[in-house]
Amino acid sequence: MNRKLIVISVLLVASMLLAACAAPTAAPVATEAPSVATEAPAATGGGKLEVFSWWTSGGEAAALEALFNQFKVYNPTAEIINATIAGGGGSNARAVLQTRLGGGDPPDTWQVHPGYELMGQYVASGYVDPITDLYKSEGWDKVMPQGLVDQMTKDGEIYGVLAGVHRGNGLFYNKAVLDGLGITVGETMSVDQFVEIADKVKASGVDPLCVGDNGVWASAQLFENTLLGVIGPEKYKGLWDGSVSFDSAEVKQAMETYGKMLDYQNADHSALSWDQAVQKLMEGKCVFTSMGDWAYGEFVKAGKKDNVDFGWVSHPGTAGSFMIVADGFVMAKNAPDYDNNILWLKAVGSKEGQEAFNPLKGSIPARTDVDRAKFGPYHNWSMDSFAKDALVPSVVHGSAAPADFQQALNDATTTFIVDKNVDAYAAALVAAAKASGFAK
Ligand code: GAL
Repeated sequence: MNRKLIVISVLLVASMLLAACAAPTAAPVATEAPSVATEAPAATGGGKLEVFSWWTSGGEAAALEALFNQFKVYNPTAEIINATIAGGGGSNARAVLQTRLGGGDPPDTWQVHPGYELMGQYVASGYVDPITDLYKSEGWDKVMPQGLVDQMTKDGEIYGVLAGVHRGNGLFYNKAVLDGLGITVGETMSVDQFVEIADKVKASGVDPLCVGDNGVWASAQLFENTLLGVIGPEKYKGLWDGSVSFDSAEVKQAMETYGKMLDYQNADHSALSWDQAVQKLMEGKCVFTSMGDWAYGEFVKAGKKDNVDFGWVSHPGTAGSFMIVADGFVMAKNAPDYDNNILWLKAVGSKEGQEAFNPLKGSIPARTDVDRAKFGPYHNWSMDSFAKDALVPSVVHGSAAPADFQQALNDATTTFIVDKNVDAYAAALVAAAKASGFAK
């Protein structure tokens, strides 16, 4: 349905709201005043809603379901098309989405990271419509962190609503295995402490590091986290404005450290996905995984308990920083099911939706007004970190740099895993940053 149909859309929304009035949560009210009505809506009854994402792992799918359930409070009879393309980090999904968008076949809404990914790949190409009015009508302008909203804003118009904010620089571990070896992880971990523990674990015959990089990005993320830990948040931010070069001594030091960490990873890493690596960790076949806290979603899905079955610490050297990997949803231009998508976006941005989704997903709510008592130890720890630590953008998850650099980083990392050539790795990233246009 296109926007000319909004009058009738609003009537449809009104009937949906009537249908939903027995639901426990108050349904949102349609906000935008319609302009011209030209033809009858294509949808009948509850209509459809197509949501496109890469949330296919156990934890991801369960969390997505929680958002669907919130949408169903607003429209119980809509048919939800759950369009997922497997591949963590959107490694396969983003290409499929581009093909659909380029072919004029958009889903109603899709998962997106703020910053370059949203602005460069979707806003600049005119694939999404602003949802600025929803920020006012839903009160999101008062509860969403301004810094993140800024990364979704162009010329005063806002182009997405966030469901949650992942902390990318986590190091999760199997507590039983470490307990068995008499190893206790403290509040923070330096690179040297990691190496000391990893050597002990390796000597016991267990792989210290669990990696599942059949999508490559998981290894690029291990490097990204190590880079942040070695050079610190200020210099890390400097990489993206060109004030720090990828062949500086400290970046090369980070590459050396990353090369050392590779010696501790499981031999079958390239055959596994990120969530299979987490599974391996839970089985005690390896101990640590450096991953965004979507890994937490896998622990929850498997019934594991915070600080009992698994523990966490910031990736070595990154205590005091929060690597942001935020997930949002958009309004497609010419969304086939505009009115249902309005309800979907309202569900995504709602307090109820965020309180249901994030405990399962591992991210913290983007809203700052949630009830913290509804969240366990990990989430409260991450919320504290978000409030007080240096917030830095992830390049591996689309926010810090354009897509061509993201791809070049994946390629250079793939090569480095094999040749461990620091100079070549640095040179490749210098060239990629120049080509991408953000290096000085
Ligand atoms: C990230 C995304 C997360 C999680 C992860 C692994 O890009 O922001 O929500 O899904 O990929 O798939």
